[in-house]
Amino acid sequence: MSHLIAAHQGRPGDDPIFALNKEASDRRARGEKIVNATVGALLDDAGKLAVLPTAARAVHEVPAAEWAAYAPISGLPDFLRAAEDDLFARAPALRECATAAATPGGSGALHHAIKNFLEPGQSILTTSFYWGPYQTLADEAERKLATFEMFGDELRFDAAGLDRALGAQIAEQKRALVFLNDPCHNPTGYSMTEDEWADVLDVLEKHGKSAPVTVLLDVAYADYGARDFRGSLGRFERLLERCQLLFAYSASKSFTHYGLRVGAIVACAPDAKERASIAAALGYSCRGTWSNCVRGGQAAVTRLLTDPELSASVKREREELKSLLLRRVAAFNAHAKDAKLRYPRYEGGFFVTVFCDDGPKEAARMREMGVFVVPQKKAVRVALCGVAEADIPRLVEALAPLAKP
Ligand SMILES: Cc1ncc(COP(=O)(O)O)c(C=O)c1O
Repeated sequence: MSHLIAAHQGRPGDDPIFALNKEASDRRARGEKIVNATVGALLDDAGKLAVLPTAARAVHEVPAAEWAAYAPISGLPDFLRAAEDDLFARAPALRECATAAATPGGSGALHHAIKNFLEPGQSILTTSFYWGPYQTLADEAERKLATFEMFGDELRFDAAGLDRALGAQIAEQKRALVFLNDPCHNPTGYSMTEDEWADVLDVLEKHGKSAPVTVLLDVAYADYGARDFRGSLGRFERLLERCQLLFAYSASKSFTHYGLRVGAIVACAPDAKERASIAAALGYSCRGTWSNCVRGGQAAVTRLLTDPELSASVKREREELKSLLLRRVAAFNAHAKDAKLRYPRYEGGFFVTVFCDDGPKEAARMREMGVFVVPQKKAVRVALCGVAEADIPRLVEALAPLAKP
């Protein structure tokens, strides 16, 4: 007899990506030559976790008492201010009406969005390709996940698909919470163009007139895109009157400190009363979920964002890391074009998704060859963030059979 409640029995304990990564690491330790394109952390070309030295220094310089003490429930005010300033450096209208709460990474922000902007049993709406934990977070919060076809003609973002799905969802549940992960979408690597965003914003604005529509921008990979992300955030100002805007802010990738668990949910609400009410609800959720987040991590990231010397040096180091990644992206694109692989426009970010007829079958075949990718139904996800530039020809060679004849 199990004492677990019925709905929680039979849940997979291990994340499938972590399990694949373990197998790849074990085989490599036994001396096999392995290409491991499974895990979403940026490795240098020697296969070691890339850690920004200035970020590591800032973490080490946090005094013991800062690590030991509790943080305020909603986070250190200096951290929240610094996160808002960072995100909205070039979007003053968003900055003016922002309120934030500290969360353990962007994941915590996603959790708070689900809990506060959807009723139990209702569905998040996101793209047909999405980061798997969106479903886990929905399950845990007793919500569901619905998707719309991400790509339409010529592999462009399908704003018409979003329009149809959002309309149907509002008819059914009278409200909506849309998760959009851009730029450098996980798992496809896709970054929308301004034209695509304009179409998406038209759709959101239209539906925001008829029901409460909350839009969450998951910007976990924003610092690794080919274009300037902060300079384009002003595009969301037009949504302020129609939709509730949320941002899942994360220090995991931006500062290469995945395990530090620093992040924030940032909400933009022009009405002061509504803003205060959202701030209170988010703080309540913090108390009721993890109480408060690691104070030392927030202190370190605050310094990295606000100390002029540290901030300049961490930006310089991040640019180098981004160049390393962009070199891999360029190499992948060059080889993949020759191999005629089918995948969405890929300009930067940690991942790309290559389409095929049977993802699990292809991933298993590649695994036999010592090349690890993450299977999806009709695609495989390739984490270029973990693959040395020198291994890209072998990686693409293993992917080549995925191209249609
Ligand atoms: C799409 C996406 N969103 C959010 C996150 C959240 O990461 P964290 O909770 O470490 O900030 C990740 C991490 O892999 C991700 O891939």
